[in-house]
Amino acid sequence: MGDLTEQTATDVVLEELTRGGSPRMKEIMTSLITHLHGFVREVELTEQEWMEGIRFLEETGEKIPGEFILLSDNLGVSVLLDLMNHRKPKGATENNMQGPFHQEGSPERAMSSRIFEDDDADPLFWSGQVRAPDGTPIAGALLDIWQTASNANYQLVDDRQPEHNFRGKYRSGADGRYAFETVCPVSYPIPTVGSVGKLLKAIGRPEIRPAHVHFKVSADGFEPLTTMIFTKGDPHLGKDPVFGVRESLIIDVAKHDTDEGDRKAPFYTAEFDFVMEPAA
Ligand SMILES: [Fe+2]
Repeated sequence: MGDLTEQTATDVVLEELTRGGSPRMKEIMTSLITHLHGFVREVELTEQEWMEGIRFLEETGEKIPGEFILLSDNLGVSVLLDLMNHRKPKGATENNMQGPFHQEGSPERAMSSRIFEDDDADPLFWSGQVRAPDGTPIAGALLDIWQTASNANYQLVDDRQPEHNFRGKYRSGADGRYAFETVCPVSYPIPTVGSVGKLLKAIGRPEIRPAHVHFKVSADGFEPLTTMIFTKGDPHLGKDPVFGVRESLIIDVAKHDTDEGDRKAPFYTAEFDFVMEPAA
């Protein structure tokens, strides 16, 4: 170990990584330590600020489950990882983060049926097609869908909602088309009771996510797709705290003020087509 000074501290620590362990771990730790030391030097971190950072991390780990994931989301690390690990070919639907509110075991529901058991909001009839990049319809694709109720809560964290409210699995038909009845998704705040909430406040970041519907789409011969679809006109679109919004994933929701067949006004309609990436 070399003589350690302010100037040589980083090199001395990195030298210690040559003593064994996996090459990948060495690569990760070398970069982490290099960047961490660089950060400390660049901002001339004081001991008091360092201690505040330590307390922040301790609090993040201690009090609320999932708070570190929320921190990753709000620092944009989750979105960067998602983008890097799900690079899609041109024309294929963009991937997006799954978020913390997906549940396994959602019920399979019939084509065009309601995805909810209980909600008083005006209905939204959502439909679209699942297809390959060359336009071929994909029959039998499984769409696992979840969203908030109109009270801005996911059923997973809201005891007032019946089990499976606003979550369900649908299959595309022979023409690749799928359809379900829901209500308009609404914007909702991310949890701010923990350390991440304090951080957002300290740096003046918003806490409201724009309205969206989550989808996991899978079909034989295609890469599984996880994404979320946003609705045009939401005032929070340009300031999503977790950086999920993509232009290609924003759709129009049309309001209808007159009855159409058995659809009683007012009601809404929306369309989104999923273009799946062929499996590698
Ligand atoms: Fe969500």
